[in-house]
Amino acid sequence: MTQQERVARCVAAIREKTGFAPRTALILGSGLGAFGERLRLEAAVEYKDLPGFPVSTVPGHQGRFLFGFAGEEPVVAMQGRVHYYEGYPMEDVVLPTRVMAALGAQRLVLTNAAGGIGPDLAPGDLMLLTDHIASFVPSPLIGPNEEAFGPRFPDMTAVYSPRLREKALAAAERRNIPLKQGVYLQTTGPQYETPAEIRMFAALGANAVGMSTACEAIAARHLGLEVCGISCVTNLAAGLGGEPLSHAEVQETADRVAQQFQDLVWELLSTIEE
Ligand code: HPA
Repeated sequence: MTQQERVARCVAAIREKTGFAPRTALILGSGLGAFGERLRLEAAVEYKDLPGFPVSTVPGHQGRFLFGFAGEEPVVAMQGRVHYYEGYPMEDVVLPTRVMAALGAQRLVLTNAAGGIGPDLAPGDLMLLTDHIASFVPSPLIGPNEEAFGPRFPDMTAVYSPRLREKALAAAERRNIPLKQGVYLQTTGPQYETPAEIRMFAALGANAVGMSTACEAIAARHLGLEVCGISCVTNLAAGLGGEPLSHAEVQETADRVAQQFQDLVWELLSTIEE
């Protein structure tokens, strides 16, 4: 089965439950799950009810699409995403992104938790993605190119839309929320990095490191979507803080700044349309 056929099967299953037409797609990372409760909800569809759809195995990650409005903006939000480290091939990891585009979304707002590499990032900071380094994970576009999605050799000069970056910075300013900017580097995980790896990533120009997002951004750009990415810096990257890293610390920080993170995303969504 082609990826296009897989997408079509999922879209058909969703369309049996809702005809909602989203304009913006949103992937909710750690700490942002509760954002769903702010949406004026029209419908919810569980991933497990979709044929061939990957289901998250990580504790704390839910698994459903929410359809609803953020202000005036019609949104499809993923409450829970799947990660490459769970064992799914990259084409499965980005299937949800392709499904949301097929449902009509023209842009994608990606959120995640990340380790801060510096120079001025502290736990609790929010960081707008200016670019990414995806060279340490397989491309989600490996395999036969499906022209209906996009070109064989898509340009990645401006993955994170300058227009949406402006919108995010303006939203942050209006709400008085500090928003840093930087380059996100994706690793496969699931282990956290070693201090030597973090020194390497710093030398390569990365400001934050995480286990998602860049692959989704690549698939979205392939489809021609406008992309925006925001990280919640949940911890100092390995070797920078002196303490061992833990998922508990990541969740704790994500929960601590969840309110602010949600406010920022809400403000962005409610002003995202030009
Ligand atoms: N490394 C990788 N992924 C992460 C981290 C980290 O330090 N924090 C949250 N996600």
